[in-house]
Amino acid sequence: MSENTFYVTTPIYYVNDKPHIGHAYTTILADVLSRYHRELGVPTFFLTGTDEHGQKVQKAATEHKMSPQEQCDTTVLRFQELWKKLGMTNDDFIRTTEERHKKIVRKILQDLYDKGEIYKSEYKGRYCVPCERFFTDKDIADGNLCPECSRETQEIVESNYFFRMSKYQDWLIDYIKTHPDFIQPSFRANETLGFLQKPLGDLCISRPKSRLAWGIELPFDSDYVCYVWFDALINYISAIGYGSDEAKFKKWWPVNYHLIGKDILTTHSVYWPTMLKAMGVEPPKTIFAHGWWLIGQDKMSKSVGNVVNPMDMIEKYGIDAFRYFLMAEMSLGQDASFSEEAFVSKYNSDLANDLGNLLSRVVKMVIKQFNGKLPPCGELSENENELKETVLNAVSQMENSIKNMKLNQGLDAVMNAVRAGNRYMEKTAPWTLAKNGNLEKLGTVLYTSAEALRIISGALFAVMPSKMSELRKTLGLKKDEIENISFAALQKWGALSAGTEITDIDGLFMRFKAEEAVPEKKNEKPKDKAPAPASETGIVTIDEFFKTQLKTAKILEAEKVDGADKLLKLQIDIGGEKRQLVAGIAQFYQPSDIIGKTIVVVSNLKPAKIRGIESQGMLLAAKDGKSLKLITVDGGDFPSGSSVG
Ligand code: MSP
Repeated sequence: MSENTFYVTTPIYYVNDKPHIGHAYTTILADVLSRYHRELGVPTFFLTGTDEHGQKVQKAATEHKMSPQEQCDTTVLRFQELWKKLGMTNDDFIRTTEERHKKIVRKILQDLYDKGEIYKSEYKGRYCVPCERFFTDKDIADGNLCPECSRETQEIVESNYFFRMSKYQDWLIDYIKTHPDFIQPSFRANETLGFLQKPLGDLCISRPKSRLAWGIELPFDSDYVCYVWFDALINYISAIGYGSDEAKFKKWWPVNYHLIGKDILTTHSVYWPTMLKAMGVEPPKTIFAHGWWLIGQDKMSKSVGNVVNPMDMIEKYGIDAFRYFLMAEMSLGQDASFSEEAFVSKYNSDLANDLGNLLSRVVKMVIKQFNGKLPPCGELSENENELKETVLNAVSQMENSIKNMKLNQGLDAVMNAVRAGNRYMEKTAPWTLAKNGNLEKLGTVLYTSAEALRIISGALFAVMPSKMSELRKTLGLKKDEIENISFAALQKWGALSAGTEITDIDGLFMRFKAEEAVPEKKNEKPKDKAPAPASETGIVTIDEFFKTQLKTAKILEAEKVDGADKLLKLQIDIGGEKRQLVAGIAQFYQPSDIIGKTIVVVSNLKPAKIRGIESQGMLLAAKDGKSLKLITVDGGDFPSGSSVG
């Protein structure tokens, strides 16, 4: 294969049930990696699909009173529909019941059988009649009881076909040891080597039709179908022309990344490479096993009822926010925790506040001060150069993070650049420049901020394609620059042209109240783990401190709360967003004293009800025994919504 192509796959998903967040995660990850590679100018092929044979699908079909094919044809639509909604750019979608796939599976089976790599033998194991499942002695830990239903199993001797997997054990061990990129992260390579310390058996690759009929018939024995994993793994090569289009196959194979979840490591790191070795085909470049999404601290499970349906999430919060959260929150390789509260909090702080705020400040001021035409950039001072460097550096970090499969770190770097953009605005105070009529410097500040947004939106495009399209449209970029991002264009400062029309945008990311998140399930068990103790010294790290978002806010209205001597109800403005606060300051301030003041509030506090009135944040005040003074901002015209800290 050429070093200059990128081929990425997801597992093919069983069509026994609808897609969940785990399926969505891997597919979004593959999509994001594909989009970035295309932006880097690398020809890319992204494959996903469905695994449609075997026991699970047959069982679901029986439960739904359908034929297995009907079960597949109905459920596959749910995956295809979700991928379409989520904006997947997969180049192909393979279904293992398609003839193009079955033909290649049969060809491989026949070739391996002819070469003596597959042989017939007797298979001894235990069978559970009610579950209709066959288990090996290894599966049955407890006497002769079925590991699924704990009922008595029967010993069964069955003739089956076997692949000579054991023959490749030494080769595989050596290959893993000499190819550090082959299984990633490296602790998964060690896990596979641990598994390979025990003698590797041959792999039973058939199922008698009398026991399981739903599968690809063996070409050399019509009483049997192919074992579902042997059939499924072949999708990775049948889709790209193995045995049918040699040129296409050569172009893409070996695959750059098989993205998988940690639970299907052995099938990919042991079965698949040995199968390929027997076929005389090169192994994958990298099998990358990611961790699992836990729900809070718990495993996601249908019986617990905590399965997250991606459709619900995107309907509520939008596609791009969902894509962003999944990519930013999981450190590749580790498990990650999903909760709607964490989702809303990250969404609000990164997207609605930080990114949304920077955009709306720039757009509003260009419209107001320059009639919507982007002003020219004058000389760059230290502040401009500092922001420019941070933004360009974030693009390089994003690029490295893609290459090193540390996407969340790249996204962190870009979000830091967004925050640097907001800090830059606060330092240069364009509102004061406007007031003082310093239009040249004001132009430089707004141009610099808009240029930072052009690059930032490009760097985030693969993760949030539709929102970043909107943002780029607002910046007046041309159609081609909006959607055909090239990393090269993100590495050059100064591409925006003065005079470009900037259009208004109303709330790119709408803010959600934390309360709108689904409350914890009633039947959720109390967590085993105690919350982390507060530091005994009372010292917090800078990261801990910055979790509290302090913002300036302007008091628009204030009134006493009936029947509550101490409370005032305030209507405040935080950077264009109206909020209501209830504060215990009525004994110290009359409503008329405080209207128009610019105060400091905690803007990311979970809303609470005080005397039945919703309070969306908390104001800061200094207290000394009997007196109380509001923390206010020096200078009445300071804009609300500015960060404090
Ligand atoms: N059909 C096989 C794969 C064959 S690939 C040749 C299969 N399908 S599956 O539908 O059961 O699971 C697909 C993927 O979903 C696996 O990679 C699995 O790790 C992943 N996930 C299932 N639950 C998950 C989470 N809670 N979190 C993240 N991914 C999880 O296995």
